[in-house]
Amino acid sequence: MSESIVLEDANGIAGPLRGSHPRAFIKSFGCQMNVYDAERMGDLAAEAGYRKALSVEDADLIVLNTCHIRERAAQKIYSELGKLREMKEERAREGRQTMLVVAGCVAQAEGAEILRRQPAVDVVVGPQSYHRLPELLRQARVRPGVVDTEFPAEDKFSRLPAPPPDAIRRRGVAAFVTVQEGCDKFCSFCVVPYTRGAEASRPVGAVLDEIARLADAGVREITLLGQNVNGYHGLDARGRPAGLAAMIRAVAAVPGICRVRYMTSHPNDMSEDLIQAHRDVPALAPYLHLPVQSGSDTMLKAMNRRHSVADYLDVVACMRAARPDIAFSSDFIVGYPGETDADFDQTLALVRAVGFASSYAFKYSPRPGTPAAEMSGQIDEQTKARRLAALQEMIEDQRQAFNRKAIGQRFEVLFEKPGRRAGQVIGRSPTMQSVFVEGPQSLIGELVDVEMVDIEPHSLRGRVVSTSS
Ligand code: SAH
Ligand code: SF4
Ligand code: F3S
Repeated sequence: MSESIVLEDANGIAGPLRGSHPRAFIKSFGCQMNVYDAERMGDLAAEAGYRKALSVEDADLIVLNTCHIRERAAQKIYSELGKLREMKEERAREGRQTMLVVAGCVAQAEGAEILRRQPAVDVVVGPQSYHRLPELLRQARVRPGVVDTEFPAEDKFSRLPAPPPDAIRRRGVAAFVTVQEGCDKFCSFCVVPYTRGAEASRPVGAVLDEIARLADAGVREITLLGQNVNGYHGLDARGRPAGLAAMIRAVAAVPGICRVRYMTSHPNDMSEDLIQAHRDVPALAPYLHLPVQSGSDTMLKAMNRRHSVADYLDVVACMRAARPDIAFSSDFIVGYPGETDADFDQTLALVRAVGFASSYAFKYSPRPGTPAAEMSGQIDEQTKARRLAALQEMIEDQRQAFNRKAIGQRFEVLFEKPGRRAGQVIGRSPTMQSVFVEGPQSLIGELVDVEMVDIEPHSLRGRVVSTSS
């Protein structure tokens, strides 16, 4: 234990007094829900007097908010922890204390095993219990090696303190808000139902309060998050379940909010009223991330996706009828157990048929405890790599074609931050393209009509036409 003085406060997240405020660094891996959780953990730390550290070297409290979705993601954590252990030991020799926390889905999946593999870790906390972080840190100061991977009965969100105003101001122009967590779908390859637990939705009022506070602090765009966000069914003020469409309408009506997005959606939960919302809510961006995983019905069945290729194409067609300018993105898995070249060709055919704005493709990664990991017909690494390369090439061609099509068109761009060069600002088009213009920093936070004039490798160059908000 270090000699440093420990600051105690109402919440008990405390840091060593080194003539300045203690600092916390939270590093997030994986999906947007982890990004959101990291922000809320940052709020907890801020309330307890921690300032934000800009790097691990600068931090007294280091939280790795981990992802378990593929083997490589999980492995990365242990090599990172190895380096942090060395840093922690070196500092201890100088009398400086460092707290190491592993949060997120690896914490949930591996629990105390993490302490066995890396004893320098002080706290292991799962995604459903991080609201208890202050208490866990307090315990770890007395006895390092605390594990909390409970799925508590109480609603985590109602236990989290409201973010302090200065923390909320750091959210910027576009913010994530988790409205639904967990998954009951049990696709055979996926760890999420085990790491995040059963589907649960936050009440409408709690979400709207949070969004109103974000809007007061200057946030203009909200992305509603959930593992299956379109399965959202939170209770409204009258205690009745509300769907995602009702939530979107309510969010769009919050003063200051000019754009709404949501992710990730499951094809089976694209309800009629959600499609209707795309028709008549102007603030709802015409972009949908709708993972399909494979273009082969045999594979979809083996994956327990419970939808066919035709079902998927049907949803795409309905969405395009409702909102002709809508763009799609998707996730794909190649090399799922039993996938033949013919199955894979059907995936390429689906990609060709839909025409995606962007997509992610992954090599199938067997995950412990999931049914697919035990299936026969596991595919060799070389075949996976070959299929991945072919799919990624097609995805990249489509992305470039989508961007090229934008040249000469006008879109509303919401500017988010300064550009790479002086005198530039960067924002996003309704369909998620990164767009930069030459213009004053005062454009940040504004929704502006922009004409696309040129295409760069990862963004579009635009010219401001008029300011519309
Ligand atoms: N809830 C979302 C996404 C969950 S995870 C959905 O229903 O689609 C994000 C993506 O990771 C998935 O869409 C899938 O493409 C990929 N993924 C999940 N498990 C995987 C595994 N075992 N191997 C490779 N990719 C995986
Ligand atoms: Fe995983 Fe399937 Fe649930 Fe998505 S729907 S989180 S892929 S189990
Ligand atoms: Fe990863 Fe957990 Fe998200 S496994 S993708 S961080 S839900």
